[in-house]
Parts: sequence; structure tokens; C-alpha cells
Amino acid sequence: MALLYKADPVRGEQWQRLFAKHAPDIQWRAWPDIGDPRDIRYLAAWQAPDDIETVLPNLKVLFALSAGVDQLDLGRLPATLPVVRLLDPGISQGMCEYASFAVLSLHRDMVRYRQQQTERCWQAHRLVPAQQRRVGVMGLGLQARHILNTLKPFGFALSGWARSEHHIDGVECFAGTGQLPAFLSQCDIVLCVLPLTEQTKGILNRQLFQHLPRGAALVNMGRGGHLVEAHLLEALASGQLSAAVLDVLEQEPAAPDHPFWNHRQIILTPHIAAMTQPESAFGVLLDNIRRHQRGETMLGLVDRERSY
Ligand code: GLV
Repeated sequence: MALLYKADPVRGEQWQRLFAKHAPDIQWRAWPDIGDPRDIRYLAAWQAPDDIETVLPNLKVLFALSAGVDQLDLGRLPATLPVVRLLDPGISQGMCEYASFAVLSLHRDMVRYRQQQTERCWQAHRLVPAQQRRVGVMGLGLQARHILNTLKPFGFALSGWARSEHHIDGVECFAGTGQLPAFLSQCDIVLCVLPLTEQTKGILNRQLFQHLPRGAALVNMGRGGHLVEAHLLEALASGQLSAAVLDVLEQEPAAPDHPFWNHRQIILTPHIAAMTQPESAFGVLLDNIRRHQRGETMLGLVDRERSY
């Protein structure tokens, strides 16, 4: 019985050492050296191989090595193949650190001060108390909840929006498309950690920006596909938005002539908000493999109807 790993080869060596030490009963295979494909019961991957049913005829579970699963292109996978998202505490930690960095940078006007520094301009601007800064999170899953808890001690006025109803202590929660405008109208900083699905593709668009208070700021740490990039440029140019912190793009890596590279109102990072850490993710993956072997429910099982 073997597990096939298909992702970053450097971290693959770390995974392999962890399996050898803690789960010697599970044979390790790393793409593209898959050996006899009939041995492979589990696939741990960032992206699935084409024609997975033929390539891996005895595959039982696909474990995504990520929190998001849109890049697996679920529609191409057999409907009966269980797909499991990675609920890695290392990913959550990374998301919380990045969200804190982004929200604090926007709250404390760092995009503007960084620009002033390049211009040798020593000028202070009004400091808005955190209690008056309204921070809204789009998506209220596991990552969002960790992020909201991390932001709480700063004293921001926190809210959240998701397609279904949620109740989170100290966070005003909005639900469904009907309440989206009301949610947006009270966000000075809006942060997207939604899953990318047919419903959320392009959700960060001109119409959404128009519901935000003038001069609001955007953080996208979901997927590039959430954002209509041309609409962001338009909103920044018109002053409807004042700044954006983006960790993801529609096309990654960004083309050398992408307009975001040297945009003065944008902080752009190369999809580094969170990275799967074998040290913290291994226990989660192994626990799920053991659950599967015992016939128990795996944690992070993707609902194929919802796509997350
Ligand atoms: C990274 O983008 C992830 O989904 O884990």
C-alpha cells in the first residue's frame, strides 16, 4: 500500500522522512517515479495528474496539500473520489500572520508612508483609533475564524460575511448575497479568504467596490480568481479604493509587465501568505489516513456540491 506525493520536491524530502519515521507501513512514492500504479491508494498533491482514474486505478483518497482545492479542478475528478483539504495549523498560523501584517499596514497607512519615504517626505497623517477602523472578512471558515481571533486584541470593529449564517463572539456576521451590500458598506478594510468556486469567481469586482465606503482598502489572500484585476485598477484610480494588499493573482507568477508590480497603492507578494509546513501538516495527514483505514470520517472532506 503506497502514498504518492505530487508537489514541491524539496518539501517532499521532508515528508518522506516523516513517513519513514512515523508510518513505515505506508510506502512512499514521489511523482513522477510512481512505481507500480496499482499499489497507490493515497495521493497527496497540489495538482492532480490528468486522467487520474487511468493513471491511478486503485486510488482511494486524494489529499490536497493545501487549504484551497480549486486548483485541483474538481470537475475533472471522479465524482466518487473523496477529496480532503489540508487543515494544517501551519497554514492557519501563516494566514494569521499575513492578515495581521496586511490589516495593520493598511490601518497604519503604510502604503502611503512607504511612498512618502521614497519621496523624502516627512509628513504625518491622522491616526484612526483601531476601535473606529472597521475590518470585514469575506469567508467565515476555519482560516477566517483564526484571523478574526488574531485581529480581536487590536480592538478593530470586526465583521464577517459568508454565504451561510454564522455566529462568532465579538464579530458582526452577515449572510448571503442579500446582506453583502450592508456588510460592505461598513468595511474600511475588507479581507477576502473565500474559497474559489463558481459563485465566488470574480466577486471582488466594480459593483462590490462601489458598496464599500469611499477610500476603503482591500486585502486578497484567497485566490487570484476572486478579483477582477482591471476593476481594482479602476477603483484605485478613482479613489473609491485607497490601497490593496494582494498575495494572489489570476496568473501566477505575474508577467513582467503586470500593472500591479510598480503600482504605488498596491503591495504585492508572491502567494506566500501561508505555506504547507510538513512538520505541522504531517500529523493532520497521517491522522486522516488512519481514519480512512479505520473507516472513520476524515477531517476536511470536501463537499463536492459546494466545491470546498
Ligand atoms: C494555499 O494557497 C492554500 O490553499 O493552502
